[in-house]
Amino acid sequence: MTTILELKDVCYKVDKRLIIDHIDLTVKDGEKIAVVGPSGSGKSTLFHLLNNLISPTDGELFYKGKAYKDYQPESLRRQISYMPQSTELFDTTIGENLAFPALARNDKFDSARAKKLLASFGLGDYKLDTNVEFLSGGERQRICLARQLMYIPDVLLLDEATSALDADNTEKAEDAIFSLAKDEGVSVMWITHSYDQSMSNFDRRIDIVDGKINKDNKGDIDV
Ligand SMILES: Nc1ncnc2c1ncn2[C@@H]1O[C@H](COP(=O)(O)OP(=O)(O)OP(=O)(O)O)[C@@H](O)[C@H]1O
Ligand SMILES: [Mg+2]
Repeated sequence: MTTILELKDVCYKVDKRLIIDHIDLTVKDGEKIAVVGPSGSGKSTLFHLLNNLISPTDGELFYKGKAYKDYQPESLRRQISYMPQSTELFDTTIGENLAFPALARNDKFDSARAKKLLASFGLGDYKLDTNVEFLSGGERQRICLARQLMYIPDVLLLDEATSALDADNTEKAEDAIFSLAKDEGVSVMWITHSYDQSMSNFDRRIDIVDGKINKDNKGDIDV
């Protein structure tokens, strides 16, 4: 497998505190990685670095062997797609939310794809012209996931993307994401607090503690 992402000695320092502390990491094409670790350990900050929302204070990140700084930020962000921990919908219809990625790309909205994605997240009964206002937290989260997948990225970064879902819908969302990732060869990094989250779907797990990758944690699968 070829390497898609590489972090070399990456640090992120705020004042005197190293929030990300000399991380080396290689992600292969199509690899599925669970990211775990205590609250405040630096998981979301790591994803902000990977999504190029912030730059390392030391070290360097590479996408397909080329340094992040040699890419246009916007093109990088499209290939390395990040669904933040607290994702918001626009207060309009489901359809307008799902059309947003196309709008941002000056592209035509693929409503058939939108409907297919809604169905795969268990929202097939909703119409595109339904307003999101009265939807539940978990339904909104699933629409956020569908919006994230309107275009297929090379790398998908999910930050506790199913935290508001019950077991049944979590499983549905995981199936949708992992089958898409498999079909399209997408690499997935998924921050989760749920140790039950079907670890069988992941190739490995990394444990972030105090801004470092905890090498001692072998978990229940190889790291
Ligand atoms: N720009 C910043 N300025 C100051 N502190 C920051 C900044 N960014 C992150 N931090 C701090 O770095 C630490 C790690 O934050 P981060 O959001 O990465 O944690 P996390 O592992 O995602 O936690 P959680 O599981 O609770 O989401 C926190 O203590 C946070 O307050
Ligand atoms: Mg976080």
